[in-house]
Amino acid sequence: MIEKIKEHLSEVEAFQSLDSKEIESFRVKYAGKKGLLNDFFAAFRDVPADQKKEFGQVLNTLKNGVNDKVKNLQAQIQNQGGKQLIPDPTRTPFPIPSGNRHPLSIVKNRIIDIFTQIGFTVSEGPEIEDDWHNFSALNLPEYHPARDMQDTFFVQTNPDILLRTHTSSVQVRYMEKNQPPIRTISPGRVFRNEAISARAHCIFHQIEGLYIAKEVSFIDLKQTLEYFTASLFGNSKIRLRPSYFPFTEPSAEVDIYWGLETETDYRITKGTGWLEIMGCGMVDPNVLKNCGIDPDEYSGFAFGMGIERIAMLLYQISDIRLFFENDIRFLKQFKGTL
Ligand code: PHE
Repeated sequence: MIEKIKEHLSEVEAFQSLDSKEIESFRVKYAGKKGLLNDFFAAFRDVPADQKKEFGQVLNTLKNGVNDKVKNLQAQIQNQGGKQLIPDPTRTPFPIPSGNRHPLSIVKNRIIDIFTQIGFTVSEGPEIEDDWHNFSALNLPEYHPARDMQDTFFVQTNPDILLRTHTSSVQVRYMEKNQPPIRTISPGRVFRNEAISARAHCIFHQIEGLYIAKEVSFIDLKQTLEYFTASLFGNSKIRLRPSYFPFTEPSAEVDIYWGLETETDYRITKGTGWLEIMGCGMVDPNVLKNCGIDPDEYSGFAFGMGIERIAMLLYQISDIRLFFENDIRFLKQFKGTL
């Protein structure tokens, strides 16, 4: 019997209506002369003595619940002056358009996921940098010709302050504060004084990675890169082409095998089937020294890629400017791709 009353309790709690007829029949069903409450009160006599207390309590709760409910619903109707609820006329009309992530954020987050799965942390640093963290610590002393590789925006009144040209500066900061083992990736916005075209922009985004521990070798670098390209592109066929960066030795450019199946493949790979996706190398001992890490004890690798470039390959986008125009027709195509 008690169970039955409890069932009615939840029914009463759930009851909602702003129709006075419905509310009235709800009231009659419970509190009317021949209503359920009277039936339950009549049954009270036959309840065994040891259950009387609980029975009485539950039954009273039900009675109060019914009365409160009816009172509240009637008050709500009164407040509306008997009218049906009308929707708020100042509200945005249905369907309310929902946004989605920017394609660069989608790609960045995917890359972060891939590296955090193998133990990399994410580190960030300032976009306005000093010469030391962007250049000198990275084995690029003043007047080093390689500084020309990255056309830099300097702050006019102070040539020591600049907009970072790569997120390698974050890795310098990280090494200055942490001792190996170090496994970190640094995503962020970078700036280069370049003419804007379909292929280049003066503001873009990078993710750079750094791994430093005992006896880290070039093999570790290659395996990490293979794991990365397999996870992101579903393809681990890569090749490492000798290259030069002042902060790594040896250095390499990473190409992924794209294939030569379509005309587009021919065009974007210039007929080779290979596409360059990033730079990498073994961290130069001078850089470790500059950052307070003993190069006799530790070694490491680093790599860096442009997020726009990766996104352009993944989504077959042919003009980098599209990322920065905030044209909703472009952006909404990436809905649901996260
Ligand atoms: N910092 C380099 C760039 O911006 C990329 C890179 C990072 C290359 C780490 C090698 C190792 O082009």
